[in-house]
Amino acid sequence: MTDVSDDRVEDLMTGARTSITPEIVPADEVVHPTLATTYLGLTLAHPVVASAGPLTRDADGVRALADGGAAAIVLHSLFEEQLRAESARDIYIEESTEEFFAESLSFFPEVERTESPISHRYLDLLERAASAVDVPVIASLNGSDIGGWTQFARRMQDAGAAALELNVYLVPGDVTMRGRDVEDRHVEIVAAVTGEVDIPVAVKLSPYSSSFGELAIRLDEAGADGLVLFNRWTQPDIDIESVAVQAGIELSTPGEGRLPRTWIAALRGRVEANLAGTSGVETADDVVKYLLAGADVVMTTSSLVRHGPGHVRALVAGLESWMARKGFSSVDDVRGLLSVPVDVDVTAYERSGYVGALEQAKQRYGSLSGTPVISAPPVGPVPTPPVDLER
Ligand SMILES: Cc1cc2nc3c(=O)[nH]c(=O)nc-3n(C[C@H](O)[C@H](O)[C@H](O)COP(=O)(O)O)c2cc1C
Repeated sequence: MTDVSDDRVEDLMTGARTSITPEIVPADEVVHPTLATTYLGLTLAHPVVASAGPLTRDADGVRALADGGAAAIVLHSLFEEQLRAESARDIYIEESTEEFFAESLSFFPEVERTESPISHRYLDLLERAASAVDVPVIASLNGSDIGGWTQFARRMQDAGAAALELNVYLVPGDVTMRGRDVEDRHVEIVAAVTGEVDIPVAVKLSPYSSSFGELAIRLDEAGADGLVLFNRWTQPDIDIESVAVQAGIELSTPGEGRLPRTWIAALRGRVEANLAGTSGVETADDVVKYLLAGADVVMTTSSLVRHGPGHVRALVAGLESWMARKGFSSVDDVRGLLSVPVDVDVTAYERSGYVGALEQAKQRYGSLSGTPVISAPPVGPVPTPPVDLER
């Protein structure tokens, strides 16, 4: 953790967020920065990781990502529902008589009969991917309930996963479910999975918790080796012509990186687990921002879908040239520079940032309650005046 002077803490508390004074490095003194990174105990060449998505669905995709320069690759998820459906089908088959068998299979439409079970195909992909590339391959298990499916983690480990990413995708659709029960479920799932395996386990989470920081700390204590922030919940749209709900996952936009970065900045130094940023990476600038906030690694799917697996090299080259330009010799020197200092009250800090932001907005757009003032936006950072919300 970087030492923070009293003056800087004062700046942070009054909402005047820190900026790094650029150190101009003469061209002949530029050295290549060290990008080596550790994540979940794995040594990575740099901090840019390919997250779970359509490009990690098959061995060719995994190979292309490794060739494209990804430091580690997270396979697409295997879902709790897929494992449950397979298991239900197996039990049913065992309990059925031969003559009843053919008809009974029709009750299980989701389970394909002609191909090997999805779980076998996943393990096969994992094995092939792990031996085909020389970067770590991380398996992904996705679920929201307690049950036997968590034991599958052990089979992923045995198939060669360097680590496991556990995506706890729990949308509490039961509107009577208490917040504490939602959080407890997360902790129980993480404890169940970490109890199954010896490899590191990272947990991918959604931001929707009444006190996300405390949940993160509980998961850290329950044995999570990494926290991956954040999962994007599918948020269906409505087509007003067909008058129908449109589901589907959109690719992200850079603004979506702000929320995960806010929490990464708040958690840096407050949890032992590594922190991975996922959402909104499009350019090297987004990678830099995540590292400054305190991410150990930065993950991307959308940018690789848009620009191809080789886009990782552009992200890494951009990071490297930014570091050289600013005089940083290693990513460890960058990481967490703009995180919330550990000796600062995070609530007060966030509140001061919020109040400061409102002040800036008032200066820029006019009084939030009165007639908008139309003027040219100020050039450069807006100074933060003393706070007086009543003005
Ligand atoms: C088409 C698509 C498929 C995805 N599949 C998975 C998946 O199987 N498991 C998972 O944990 N995340 C999955 N994700 C989420 C991504 O891993 C990532 O967390 C999210 O897209 C935000 O990162 P991005 O802004 O770089 O896209 C998927 C995303 C997309 C766009």
